[in-house]
Amino acid sequence: MHIAHSIDDLRKITTGWKQQGETIALVPTMGNLHSGHLQLVKAAREQHTKSVVSIFVNPLQFGPDEDFDSYPRTLSADAEAVADVGADLIFAPSVAEMYPDGQDTHVEVKLPYLANLLCGEHRPGHFDGVGTVVLKLFNIVQPHSAFFGEKDFQQLLLLKTISRQLNVPVDVQGVPTVRADDGLALSSRNQYLTAAERTIAPLLQTTLQTIATALAAGNRNYAELETAGIASLRKAGFEPDYIQVRDADTLAAPSDTTHHLRILAAARLGGARLIDNIGAARA
Ligand code: PAJ
Repeated sequence: MHIAHSIDDLRKITTGWKQQGETIALVPTMGNLHSGHLQLVKAAREQHTKSVVSIFVNPLQFGPDEDFDSYPRTLSADAEAVADVGADLIFAPSVAEMYPDGQDTHVEVKLPYLANLLCGEHRPGHFDGVGTVVLKLFNIVQPHSAFFGEKDFQQLLLLKTISRQLNVPVDVQGVPTVRADDGLALSSRNQYLTAAERTIAPLLQTTLQTIATALAAGNRNYAELETAGIASLRKAGFEPDYIQVRDADTLAAPSDTTHHLRILAAARLGGARLIDNIGAARA
Protein backbone atom coordinates (compact mmCIF):
# COMPACT_ATOMS: atom_id res chain seq x y z
CA MET A 1 0.00 0.00 0.00
CA HIS A 2 1.64 3.20 -1.15
CA ILE A 3 1.13 6.33 0.95
CA ALA A 4 1.58 9.57 -0.99
CA HIS A 5 2.36 12.52 1.29
CA SER A 6 2.81 15.09 -1.47
CA ILE A 7 0.55 16.25 -4.28
CA ASP A 8 3.35 15.65 -6.82
CA ASP A 9 3.79 12.04 -5.71
CA LEU A 10 0.04 11.41 -5.85
CA ARG A 11 -0.34 13.03 -9.29
CA LYS A 12 2.45 10.91 -10.80
CA ILE A 13 0.43 7.82 -9.88
CA THR A 14 -3.04 9.08 -10.81
CA THR A 15 -1.82 10.51 -14.14
CA GLY A 16 -0.40 7.09 -15.03
CA TRP A 17 -3.70 5.46 -14.12
CA LYS A 18 -5.66 7.85 -16.32
CA GLN A 19 -3.33 7.19 -19.26
CA GLN A 20 -4.05 3.49 -18.83
CA GLY A 21 -7.82 4.12 -18.91
CA GLU A 22 -8.44 3.34 -15.23
CA THR A 23 -11.39 5.02 -13.50
CA ILE A 24 -10.68 6.58 -10.12
CA ALA A 25 -12.77 6.79 -6.95
CA LEU A 26 -11.91 9.03 -4.01
CA VAL A 27 -12.91 8.41 -0.38
CA PRO A 28 -12.07 11.51 1.71
CA THR A 29 -11.56 10.85 5.44
CA MET A 30 -9.88 12.28 8.51
CA GLY A 31 -8.47 8.83 9.35
CA ASN A 32 -8.85 6.71 12.48
CA LEU A 33 -10.76 4.43 10.18
CA HIS A 34 -13.62 2.14 11.25
CA SER A 35 -16.01 -0.13 9.34
CA GLY A 36 -18.13 2.88 8.30
CA HIS A 37 -15.20 4.39 6.41
CA LEU A 38 -14.27 0.99 4.98
CA GLN A 39 -17.81 0.54 3.66
CA LEU A 40 -17.22 3.65 1.54
CA VAL A 41 -14.05 2.06 0.14
CA LYS A 42 -15.98 -1.11 -0.71
CA ALA A 43 -18.66 0.93 -2.52
CA ALA A 44 -15.90 2.80 -4.38
CA ARG A 45 -14.19 -0.43 -5.47
CA GLU A 46 -17.44 -1.85 -6.84
CA GLN A 47 -17.66 0.97 -9.37
CA HIS A 48 -14.07 1.91 -10.17
CA THR A 49 -10.83 0.17 -11.06
CA LYS A 50 -8.70 2.37 -8.75
CA SER A 51 -9.52 3.85 -5.37
CA VAL A 52 -7.75 6.54 -3.34
CA VAL A 53 -8.40 7.12 0.37
CA SER A 54 -7.38 10.56 1.62
CA ILE A 55 -6.49 10.94 5.29
CA PHE A 56 -6.24 14.53 6.45
CA VAL A 57 -7.41 16.12 9.69
CA ASN A 58 -8.48 19.42 8.18
CA PRO A 59 -7.86 22.38 10.52
CA LEU A 60 -10.21 24.65 8.52
CA GLN A 61 -13.29 22.71 9.61
CA PHE A 62 -12.61 22.75 13.38
CA GLY A 63 -13.79 25.60 15.62
CA PRO A 64 -11.35 27.16 18.15
CA ASP A 65 -12.78 25.10 21.06
CA GLU A 66 -13.06 21.86 19.13
CA ASP A 67 -10.95 18.69 19.10
CA PHE A 68 -8.45 19.40 16.26
CA ASP A 69 -5.39 18.79 18.47
CA SER A 70 -6.78 15.69 20.19
CA TYR A 71 -8.43 14.15 17.10
CA PRO A 72 -7.06 10.56 16.90
CA ARG A 73 -4.28 10.17 14.30
CA THR A 74 -3.56 6.48 13.56
CA LEU A 75 -1.96 6.36 10.11
CA SER A 76 -0.21 2.98 10.33
CA ALA A 77 -3.33 1.14 11.56
CA ASP A 78 -5.37 3.00 8.92
CA ALA A 79 -2.94 1.92 6.17
CA GLU A 80 -3.38 -1.75 7.17
CA ALA A 81 -7.19 -1.43 7.18
CA VAL A 82 -7.18 0.29 3.78
CA ALA A 83 -4.88 -2.39 2.33
CA ASP A 84 -7.17 -5.13 3.71
CA VAL A 85 -10.18 -3.79 1.81
CA GLY A 86 -8.13 -3.49 -1.38
CA ALA A 87 -7.82 0.26 -1.94
CA ASP A 88 -4.91 1.26 -4.15
CA LEU A 89 -3.46 4.41 -2.62
CA ILE A 90 -3.55 6.60 0.49
CA PHE A 91 -3.09 10.35 0.20
CA ALA A 92 -1.95 11.68 3.58
CA PRO A 93 -0.71 15.25 3.16
CA SER A 94 0.59 17.54 5.92
CA VAL A 95 -1.21 20.79 6.77
CA ALA A 96 1.65 22.70 5.03
CA GLU A 97 1.19 20.62 1.86
CA MET A 98 -2.54 21.45 1.77
CA TYR A 99 -2.31 25.08 2.92
CA PRO A 100 1.17 26.28 1.80
CA ASP A 101 0.13 29.95 1.95
CA GLY A 102 -1.22 29.56 5.49
CA GLN A 103 -4.74 28.81 6.64
CA ASP A 104 -5.78 32.37 7.40
CA THR A 105 -5.18 33.71 3.90
CA HIS A 106 -6.44 30.68 2.03
CA VAL A 107 -9.27 30.96 -0.51
CA GLU A 108 -12.41 29.49 1.05
CA VAL A 109 -15.53 28.26 -0.64
CA LYS A 110 -18.57 30.11 0.68
CA LEU A 111 -21.46 27.72 0.89
CA PRO A 112 -25.17 28.55 0.55
CA TYR A 113 -27.73 28.91 3.38
CA LEU A 114 -27.69 25.12 3.74
CA ALA A 115 -24.34 25.45 5.55
CA ASN A 116 -25.84 27.61 8.31
CA LEU A 117 -28.63 25.27 9.39
CA LEU A 118 -28.57 22.40 11.87
CA CYS A 119 -24.90 21.50 12.54
CA GLY A 120 -23.83 24.69 10.73
CA GLU A 121 -25.70 26.80 13.29
CA HIS A 122 -23.78 25.12 16.11
CA ARG A 123 -20.41 24.95 14.32
CA PRO A 124 -19.94 28.33 12.54
CA GLY A 125 -17.60 28.06 9.55
CA HIS A 126 -17.43 24.26 9.79
CA PHE A 127 -19.03 23.50 6.43
CA ASP A 128 -17.06 26.23 4.60
CA GLY A 129 -13.94 24.40 5.82
CA VAL A 130 -15.33 21.05 4.68
CA GLY A 131 -16.32 22.42 1.27
CA THR A 132 -12.91 24.04 0.77
CA VAL A 133 -10.89 20.93 1.60
CA VAL A 134 -13.11 18.57 -0.40
CA LEU A 135 -12.96 20.85 -3.45
CA LYS A 136 -9.15 20.89 -3.10
CA LEU A 137 -9.10 17.09 -2.84
CA PHE A 138 -11.28 16.85 -5.96
CA ASN A 139 -8.80 19.09 -7.84
CA ILE A 140 -5.77 17.22 -6.53
CA VAL A 141 -7.00 13.66 -7.18
CA GLN A 142 -9.38 14.42 -10.09
CA PRO A 143 -11.49 11.34 -9.41
CA HIS A 144 -14.49 10.25 -11.47
CA SER A 145 -16.57 9.68 -8.31
CA ALA A 146 -16.27 10.44 -4.62
CA PHE A 147 -17.99 8.55 -1.81
CA PHE A 148 -19.39 10.02 1.42
CA GLY A 149 -21.44 8.61 4.29
CA GLU A 150 -25.10 9.40 4.94
CA LYS A 151 -24.05 9.51 8.58
CA ASP A 152 -23.04 13.13 7.83
CA PHE A 153 -26.21 13.82 5.86
CA GLN A 154 -25.92 17.61 5.78
CA GLN A 155 -22.29 17.33 4.64
CA LEU A 156 -23.30 14.94 1.84
CA LEU A 157 -26.04 17.28 0.62
CA LEU A 158 -23.68 20.28 0.68
CA LEU A 159 -21.00 18.44 -1.27
CA LYS A 160 -23.57 17.38 -3.88
CA THR A 161 -24.60 21.04 -4.10
CA ILE A 162 -21.00 22.24 -4.56
CA SER A 163 -20.39 19.68 -7.27
CA ARG A 164 -23.60 20.58 -9.11
CA GLN A 165 -23.46 24.38 -8.75
CA LEU A 166 -19.73 24.75 -9.46
CA ASN A 167 -19.85 22.20 -12.33
CA VAL A 168 -17.25 19.97 -10.73
CA PRO A 169 -16.92 16.84 -12.87
CA VAL A 170 -17.04 14.46 -9.90
CA ASP A 171 -20.03 12.24 -9.20
CA VAL A 172 -20.74 12.63 -5.46
CA GLN A 173 -22.31 9.48 -4.03
CA GLY A 174 -23.83 8.67 -0.64
CA VAL A 175 -23.42 5.40 1.27
CA PRO A 176 -25.82 4.28 4.08
CA THR A 177 -24.72 4.64 7.70
CA VAL A 178 -22.90 1.68 9.26
CA ARG A 179 -23.99 1.01 12.86
CA ALA A 180 -22.85 -1.05 15.83
CA ASP A 181 -25.10 -3.98 16.80
CA ASP A 182 -26.92 -1.79 19.32
CA GLY A 183 -27.71 0.83 16.65
CA LEU A 184 -25.11 3.50 17.49
CA ALA A 185 -23.70 5.00 14.28
CA LEU A 186 -19.97 4.22 14.06
CA SER A 187 -17.84 7.33 14.53
CA SER A 188 -14.22 8.10 15.36
CA ARG A 189 -15.59 10.30 18.15
CA ASN A 190 -17.35 7.37 19.92
CA GLN A 191 -14.03 6.64 21.62
CA TYR A 192 -14.42 9.85 23.64
CA LEU A 193 -17.32 8.11 25.47
CA THR A 194 -16.78 6.42 28.84
CA ALA A 195 -18.06 2.83 29.20
CA ALA A 196 -21.16 4.12 31.00
CA GLU A 197 -21.84 6.76 28.32
CA ARG A 198 -21.36 4.16 25.58
CA THR A 199 -24.31 2.15 26.98
CA ILE A 200 -26.52 5.27 26.85
CA ALA A 201 -25.37 6.45 23.39
CA PRO A 202 -27.70 4.20 21.28
CA LEU A 203 -30.65 6.19 22.69
CA LEU A 204 -29.83 8.85 20.08
CA GLN A 205 -30.78 6.43 17.33
CA THR A 206 -33.81 4.96 19.13
CA THR A 207 -35.14 8.49 19.70
CA LEU A 208 -34.99 9.08 15.94
CA GLN A 209 -36.73 5.73 15.35
CA THR A 210 -39.55 6.71 17.73
CA ILE A 211 -40.13 9.90 15.74
CA ALA A 212 -40.00 7.96 12.44
CA THR A 213 -42.67 5.56 13.73
CA ALA A 214 -44.92 8.47 14.75
CA LEU A 215 -44.47 10.12 11.31
CA ALA A 216 -45.29 6.88 9.51
CA ALA A 217 -48.47 6.66 11.61
CA GLY A 218 -49.56 10.07 10.33
CA ASN A 219 -48.37 12.42 13.08
CA ARG A 220 -47.42 15.77 11.50
CA ASN A 221 -46.83 17.70 14.67
CA TYR A 222 -43.12 17.96 14.03
CA ALA A 223 -42.42 20.49 16.78
CA GLU A 224 -44.08 18.32 19.41
CA LEU A 225 -42.15 15.23 18.26
CA GLU A 226 -38.87 17.18 18.29
CA THR A 227 -39.53 18.57 21.78
CA ALA A 228 -40.39 15.11 23.15
CA GLY A 229 -37.21 13.67 21.59
CA ILE A 230 -35.06 16.44 23.13
CA ALA A 231 -36.67 15.82 26.54
CA SER A 232 -35.97 12.08 26.47
CA LEU A 233 -32.32 12.67 25.47
CA ARG A 234 -31.89 15.27 28.27
CA LYS A 235 -33.39 12.86 30.79
CA ALA A 236 -30.78 10.25 29.84
CA GLY A 237 -27.88 12.71 30.28
CA PHE A 238 -27.39 14.07 26.74
CA GLU A 239 -27.09 17.79 26.01
CA PRO A 240 -28.91 18.00 22.68
CA ASP A 241 -28.00 20.65 20.09
CA TYR A 242 -31.08 19.85 17.98
CA ILE A 243 -33.53 17.24 16.74
CA GLN A 244 -35.26 18.30 13.54
CA VAL A 245 -37.64 16.76 11.03
CA ARG A 246 -36.70 18.16 7.62
CA ASP A 247 -37.30 17.77 3.89
CA ALA A 248 -34.63 15.22 2.89
CA ASP A 249 -33.86 16.95 -0.42
CA THR A 250 -33.48 20.54 0.81
CA LEU A 251 -33.15 20.26 4.62
CA ALA A 252 -35.85 22.99 4.81
CA ALA A 253 -38.86 22.53 7.09
CA PRO A 254 -41.23 20.02 5.46
CA SER A 255 -43.94 21.50 3.22
CA ASP A 256 -47.03 19.99 1.62
CA THR A 257 -44.94 19.00 -1.39
CA THR A 258 -42.25 17.23 0.66
CA HIS A 259 -41.83 13.63 -0.48
CA HIS A 260 -38.98 12.38 1.69
CA LEU A 261 -38.38 13.30 5.30
CA ARG A 262 -35.11 13.11 7.19
CA ILE A 263 -34.87 13.28 10.96
CA LEU A 264 -31.52 14.71 12.07
CA ALA A 265 -30.01 15.12 15.52
CA ALA A 266 -26.84 16.25 17.26
CA ALA A 267 -26.20 15.91 20.98
CA ARG A 268 -23.31 16.01 23.38
CA LEU A 269 -22.76 13.07 25.67
CA GLY A 270 -19.82 13.58 28.04
CA GLY A 271 -16.83 14.57 25.89
CA ALA A 272 -18.36 13.49 22.58
CA ARG A 273 -20.61 15.35 20.16
CA LEU A 274 -22.68 12.66 18.44
CA ILE A 275 -24.71 13.13 15.26
CA ASP A 276 -27.18 10.82 13.57
CA ASN A 277 -30.05 10.88 11.08
CA ILE A 278 -32.55 8.51 9.48
CA GLY A 279 -34.99 8.67 6.61
CA ALA A 280 -38.72 8.61 7.34
CA ALA A 281 -41.87 7.98 5.36
CA ARG A 282 -44.78 10.39 5.68
CA ALA A 283 -48.16 8.76 5.91
P1 PAJ B 1 -14.67 11.60 8.64
O1 PAJ B 1 -15.47 11.96 9.83
O2 PAJ B 1 -13.39 10.86 8.82
O3 PAJ B 1 -15.60 10.76 7.70
C1 PAJ B 1 -15.15 10.37 6.42
C2 PAJ B 1 -16.32 9.80 5.65
O4 PAJ B 1 -16.79 8.63 6.33
C3 PAJ B 1 -17.52 10.77 5.59
O5 PAJ B 1 -18.09 10.73 4.29
C4 PAJ B 1 -18.47 10.21 6.64
O6 PAJ B 1 -19.83 10.52 6.38
C5 PAJ B 1 -18.19 8.72 6.49
N1 PAJ B 1 -18.62 7.98 7.68
C6 PAJ B 1 -18.26 8.22 8.97
N2 PAJ B 1 -18.91 7.36 9.81
C7 PAJ B 1 -19.69 6.58 9.02
C8 PAJ B 1 -20.60 5.52 9.27
N3 PAJ B 1 -20.86 5.09 10.51
N4 PAJ B 1 -21.24 4.93 8.22
C9 PAJ B 1 -20.99 5.38 6.95
N5 PAJ B 1 -20.14 6.37 6.64
C10 PAJ B 1 -19.51 6.96 7.65
O7 PAJ B 1 -16.44 13.58 7.24
C11 PAJ B 1 -15.24 13.81 7.31
O8 PAJ B 1 -14.30 12.92 7.79
C12 PAJ B 1 -14.64 15.13 6.83
O9 PAJ B 1 -15.58 16.16 7.02
C13 PAJ B 1 -14.17 15.09 5.35
C14 PAJ B 1 -15.34 14.85 4.39
C15 PAJ B 1 -13.08 14.03 5.15
C16 PAJ B 1 -13.55 16.47 4.99
O10 PAJ B 1 -12.49 16.78 5.81
